[in-house]
Amino acid sequence: MGKPAQKRLVRKLDLERFLSQIEPHPSPRASLEQYTISEVIAASMLYLAAYVNDDVVGKNVLDLGCGTGRLALGAAFLGARSVVGIDIDKVAIRSAWTTSKKFGFRGVQWIVGDISAVTGTFNTVLQNPPFGVQKRAADRKFLEKALEVGAKVYSLHNHPSTDKQLVKQLRADKGCLLQVAPSPFLERFVEKHGGSVEAVYALLMTIPRMFDFHMKAKHDFVVDLYILKRHS
Ligand SMILES: C[S@@+](CC[C@H](N)C(=O)[O-])C[C@H]1O[C@@H](n2cnc3c(N)ncnc32)[C@H](O)[C@@H]1O
Repeated sequence: MGKPAQKRLVRKLDLERFLSQIEPHPSPRASLEQYTISEVIAASMLYLAAYVNDDVVGKNVLDLGCGTGRLALGAAFLGARSVVGIDIDKVAIRSAWTTSKKFGFRGVQWIVGDISAVTGTFNTVLQNPPFGVQKRAADRKFLEKALEVGAKVYSLHNHPSTDKQLVKQLRADKGCLLQVAPSPFLERFVEKHGGSVEAVYALLMTIPRMFDFHMKAKHDFVVDLYILKRHS
């Protein structure tokens, strides 16, 4: 991986600081839903995976639809044994590659390509896929691939409803996770593809105005983090 694996627990604030230095996509395309994950959400997701569930340190990690690499590089920063990031967009991969070089993570493997090309097995898949806002059900293909190649999967999805009370609770504590019920549809989908839902947490994602159809300077919305296990 270039850098030695982190033996000591990394503070969440230090992880957020590191992630905030990873540039968002310089020219995002709405059709590919190229929203860069906020450093706060990425840190919460990585922290849970690494320090609550022991799914990152010393593990083989795959980031599907890695964009500029916040999840992949976060996993490398925490001490993953190997990390692969794949994205269909070469601009995103070039940015991820430049950042990994800058921080000395020379061993992270970056691939330009469609996720359908991924083969092999990974301990852990981390993904923030397109939610299917532009192309219906775009996240399903990511879930299928993640469950095919990963033993554990951390996957972000749109929260199914606008729950004002939930938004209020999440706003009160930046970066907090609240356990919620899985969507019955996604739960069935995961089971059909050989996995089960271990837990689902709601988080508040904030993104800046990026596209012409965005009306506000920044947008808060609830995302659900699914933790999935593949049955071996
Ligand atoms: C919501 S963005 C997330 C980017 C990054 N993971 C992050 O969280 O900052 C989704 C990413 O998936 C990529 N993508 C969409 N369809 C893809 C496909 N079929 N194969 C590979 N990457 C894809 C997009 O280019 C985009 O970078």
